[in-house]
This record gives sequence, structure tokens and C-alpha cells, in this order.
Amino acid sequence: MGKLSVFLFVLSFCTIVNSGSGSHSLWALATYINGETPFPEFTVVVMLEDVQVTYYDSNMKHFIYKGHNTSDKIHDDEAKNGDFVFGVMYHHMKERYFHLKHHFNLTEGVQVQQKLTGCEMLDNGEPALVMFKDAFNAIYTDRTLYYNMTHFTYDAGKLLLGWDGMRQAYERTLYENVYLPICIKSLKKILKREKNIVMRKVPPRLRLIKKEVSGGFQVSCLAFGFYPRHINLTLLRDGQPVVEQDLTGGEVLPSGDGTYQLRKSLEVSTEELKKRHNYTCTASHLSLDNKLDVSWESGAERVHLSTLSALLVMLLVVILLGIFICVKRRWSNTASQSKLANVDATVSEEMNLSSDSET
Ligand SMILES: *[C@@H]1O[C@H](CO)[C@@H](O)[C@H](O)[C@H]1NC(C)=O
Ligand SMILES: *[C@@H]1O[C@H](CO)[C@@H](O)[C@H](O)[C@H]1NC(C)=O
Ligand SMILES: *[C@@H]1O[C@H](CO)[C@@H](O)[C@H](O)[C@H]1NC(C)=O
Ligand SMILES: *[C@@H]1O[C@H](CO)[C@@H](O)[C@H](O)[C@H]1NC(C)=O
Ligand SMILES: *[C@@H]1O[C@H](CO)[C@@H](O)[C@H](O)[C@H]1NC(C)=O
Repeated sequence: MGKLSVFLFVLSFCTIVNSGSGSHSLWALATYINGETPFPEFTVVVMLEDVQVTYYDSNMKHFIYKGHNTSDKIHDDEAKNGDFVFGVMYHHMKERYFHLKHHFNLTEGVQVQQKLTGCEMLDNGEPALVMFKDAFNAIYTDRTLYYNMTHFTYDAGKLLLGWDGMRQAYERTLYENVYLPICIKSLKKILKREKNIVMRKVPPRLRLIKKEVSGGFQVSCLAFGFYPRHINLTLLRDGQPVVEQDLTGGEVLPSGDGTYQLRKSLEVSTEELKKRHNYTCTASHLSLDNKLDVSWESGAERVHLSTLSALLVMLLVVILLGIFICVKRRWSNTASQSKLANVDATVSEEMNLSSDSET
């Protein structure tokens, strides 16, 4: 159950992280579990974009670095900031659980609270926003808080009584002056440390795939092996983009090797496929100066087939001609050979005769 809800939350987390290519983000996913599970009561996973960088749990009480750059040590102030922020989170979630337990008359079973919190920074180093989102048992999306330098919004959710005006003003000041600066500072530091992973650019590879499905065909545009995850993939028919409603798929998925893949598919009836259309798959990606595309023409198969059969007929003719010539040559060869044999026979007969005469 705990595992499942962590999984669910991570899914929604991915959609939040999809914030575009002009910014960087640092997110902490905190999970607070009550009840008998093999997991620690409180765990935090910190992600820089889509790369895990640290891990913290209530058993260890200090965070460990999980990134890729092993040549750089975690500095004391960084560790202190992390321990402070995660400590506050732990305390708040514990307290919130106490109130939720009363509110729902919870007595037993496993209860899971989750919090996604973090910040975004523009490419030029300017802070963009800080926010958090709470969830309870992965069913309720609970509170949200959002602050982006000009706007502060707070939604108390439907589970518990929200903060009053004074508390909101206090929290805003806290997010503005404490959490946002800490988060941006950490983001910059971790970004520098992980630049070889997070700032790398791996261009997509592109395929147009035609597959037979029930009721017709599926023309799929597949981009894979790219990083970062942001990509624009368009399927064109005769130079016109196919509208998104006609397409299935369209979700960027991790490939498991640190790169991403995206597939967009179009259902095409058999009749439609017989018509001549030019299908083109086009991708634009941070790693590419120009658009990448791959085209395929439907209805061309018949043409291909007829050229192929013409070629086959020609080949057959050549083979038949070859056989004919061979047979003809061999026939005349055997004819002359048999004549020779006759001569031989007469010669041997003559020799026999002569030998006979000798004996
Ligand atoms: C919780 O239990 C009390 C008494 O047992 C009951 O009055 C109340 O309606 C319950 N609340 C919920 C949300 O079930
Ligand atoms: C903050 O968010 C509000 C509402 O979404 C938007 O109108 C405003 O332009 C944003 N400000 C900044 C600095 O991004
Ligand atoms: C490791 O991090 C340090 C500073 O944080 C940076 O200077 C260095 O380039 C990084 N190494 C790699 C391989 O990214
Ligand atoms: C199909 O269209 C693309 C762009 O729209 C073009 O580059 C390509 O040459 C066309 N292919 C054929 C076979 O017409
Ligand atoms: C994708 O398209 C949008 C809108 O046209 C553009 O702003 C963005 O830069 C494009 N992204 C990439 C990776 O090309």
C-alpha cells in the first residue's frame, strides 16, 4: 500500500517536473507512513530535475548524497540546511497526522502522507517559484502553497481547517525569506555538482513504424534515447500536423537508462492506408540545431509490389533463357559427343579386331 501510493505520487511528480527547458528545479518528495510497514516512518528523496541527489530518513536523521559526482564532498552548511528543512517537514507531517487521525477516526491500518516541495530557478539564476503540495493516502490532494516572487496562493484543501490570515502572512514570509533562498542556494550547488548529468544533451533517434492492428493499421512516431525529457514531436500527414485528439500515446516515459522516449500513434484504416499519403514524423529537441524528421509514403506499397513483380518476371525470363541456352548447348554437346563415341567404338572395335588377329 505504501509502495503503491509512493508510486502514484511519483507519477504526478513527473508531470510537475515537466516545467520546460528554460529552468531548473529541485524537488523533495517526503513520505510519512503510519502503521506497520517495512519502511522508515519518514523518508525524503530529493530530485534535481529528474536525477535523484539525496536521501534522508527518520532512522538515519541525516541525508546521504545519491548523485553521480563522487569527487565533490557535501559541505557542512549544505548538510545543516538539509537536516533543518527535513527536520521541520518531519515535525509538521507528524503533527498533521495527529489531526488527520482525529478527523477521520483512524485507529489502525497504514496511512500515508506525502509532500512534494521544491523550487524552480530560471536559466539566468533568478528564482522562479517555491511551492508545496500535500496528499493523504494518495487519494486526496490536500493543501497547496505557491509563491513566485509576485503571487502567493494557499489552498487549505478539504481535510483540515486551514491557516488563518495571520498564519498565512507568517508562512509567506517564511517561504519568501527562508525556504526559497535555501532551496535556490542548494539548487545552484547541486546543479554545479551534477552538471555532467543534468546539463547533458542527448539527441533523439526517430522511427516511423507501421503496425497492423484490429480494424486497420497504426502509424507510430517514436522518438527515443533523448535527454533532457522536453521534446516536441509532431506527426504530419501530407505536410499538415495531425491534431492531438486523433493521436494516442504522447506521454514522455523514462527508458530506464536515464534517457526518455515518446510515442505518438495514429489509427489508419486499411482503405486510408491504400491511398497515397506522406506521413512525416518531426522532432525538435534542445540537442538539435535543426528539426529531425523521417518520412514514409503510404499507398506506395502497390507500386513497390508491381516493380518488384516486374523485376521477378524479368529475373524469371533471364533464368529461363539461361536454362534454355544451357539445355540447347548441352544437347548439341551430347550429340557431337555421341558421334565421337561412335568413332571411338569403331576404333576400339577395330583395335579389338586387331588384337583378335594377334592372338
Ligand atoms: C468519529 O467517531 C465519532 C464517535 O465515535 C463519531 O461521532 C463521528 O461521526 C466519527 N467521525 C467520522 C468522520 O467518521
Ligand atoms: C506568478 O504567478 C502569477 C499567477 O500564476 C502570474 O500572473 C505572474 O506573472 C507570475 N509572476 C512571475 C514573476 O512569474
Ligand atoms: C563535481 O562537482 C564539482 C563542484 O561541485 C565540479 O566542479 C565538477 O566539475 C563536478 N564533476 C563532474 C564530473 O561533474
Ligand atoms: C514528405 O513530406 C516531407 C515534409 O513534409 C518531405 O520532406 C518529404 O520529401 C516528403 N516525402 C515524399 C516521399 O513525398
Ligand atoms: C517546443 O515548441 C514550443 C512552442 O512552439 C517552443 O516554445 C519550445 O521551445 C519547443 N521546444 C523544443 C525542445 O524545441
